[in-house]
Amino acid sequence: MFKVNEDYMKLPGSYLFSTIAKKVSAFTEANPDKKIIRLGIGDVTQPLCPAVIKALHSAVDEMASAETFKGYAPDLGYAFLRETIRDKVFKPLGAEVSADEIFISDGAKSDSGNIQEIFSRDTKVAVCDPVYPVYVDTNVMGGRTGTYDAATGLWSNVIYMPCTAENDFVASLPKEVPDLIYLCFPNNPTGASITKARLQEWVDYANENKAVIVYDAAYEAYISEEGVPHSIYECEGARSCAIEIRSFSKNAGFTGTRLGYTVVPKDIKTDDGVMLRDLWARRHGTKFNGAPYIIQKAGEAVFSEEGQKETGEQIAYYMNNAAYIKNGLAEAGYSVYGGVNAPYIWLKTPDNMTSWEFFDHLLASANVVGTPGSGFGPSGEGYFRLTAFGSYENTVEAIKRIKSI
Ligand code: MLT
Repeated sequence: MFKVNEDYMKLPGSYLFSTIAKKVSAFTEANPDKKIIRLGIGDVTQPLCPAVIKALHSAVDEMASAETFKGYAPDLGYAFLRETIRDKVFKPLGAEVSADEIFISDGAKSDSGNIQEIFSRDTKVAVCDPVYPVYVDTNVMGGRTGTYDAATGLWSNVIYMPCTAENDFVASLPKEVPDLIYLCFPNNPTGASITKARLQEWVDYANENKAVIVYDAAYEAYISEEGVPHSIYECEGARSCAIEIRSFSKNAGFTGTRLGYTVVPKDIKTDDGVMLRDLWARRHGTKFNGAPYIIQKAGEAVFSEEGQKETGEQIAYYMNNAAYIKNGLAEAGYSVYGGVNAPYIWLKTPDNMTSWEFFDHLLASANVVGTPGSGFGPSGEGYFRLTAFGSYENTVEAIKRIKSI
């Protein structure tokens, strides 16, 4: 008789966004006449920009000819994309990243979930709380989180770093020293950002303690303020302690198209000289056959002059929504955070409602879907997330409805 992976059996409930999707479909089935506005999952709504569409068409045409047809993609991704990323993303920031340290993938969700595989089972993990659920769930699957306490929502072997209004949603350095630290800035879910000086403290701490930071920079394109780093490699010493994960989903609308990349610098080594970069390359080669050529060509087009202009306009469109949500909710008396360097607005639930109570209330009374803060961790209890990724019209309508309840 087969046996299942016991670590998977420890996972409580379903994945956060699957739980929300189930609740919303039950509601729509029971109330077919209601027009639901979805500001829950951070999924984009604007179409792919013309520069990307043009690149997709032309790459598809290449597939039709024996001379230009492409089969398996190279393990790390095509050189044209890795070199473009090196030159257009990292060089302008003064960050030293070479093309063979960039691994193209099908997105930041897979990379942030899979990266834990190259670390030992007894790795001590630290996460911000609240946190993108993938980091914790995949470490549960990897068997390194200990036991779950349903009353507190905490795993016994995880270091939680609370992020609340009291610390501006930026965690303090943990007292108990972790081996692996997950950081995400601009932050999902709170929308908080970190200054370069604060991020430098994390890099110094990781180097002093021989820890590794997994830095999720999926939302960096939304940064508008000076002094907020776009990459952890802007910090001195980050090459010896930081892995950076990036995505085309939020900056160029690839949530359905799928493309991302991870940087693993050669300077991150064990005392015996084993490079994490080589382990990740080994994993990539064994478990992944590359993002499709046509999608990598589309990704390259994002960095063209037209692509930058057009995706920049989309980001401005979503940030206009973010400002609309933030101002509208503040006018209605809510305490609101985020939404300045990030497309997420994080609000305090009214009347001491729990996050899930407010979710149900908003769905039933305003027919608006958001994400309960407690779904991201215990310190998210009493908070709620709205995304700026809806259409402007839906965003305006959602705020009007929320103001009226
Ligand atoms: C979110 O809503 O937190 C994100 O869209 C999830 C994701 O990017 O996987």
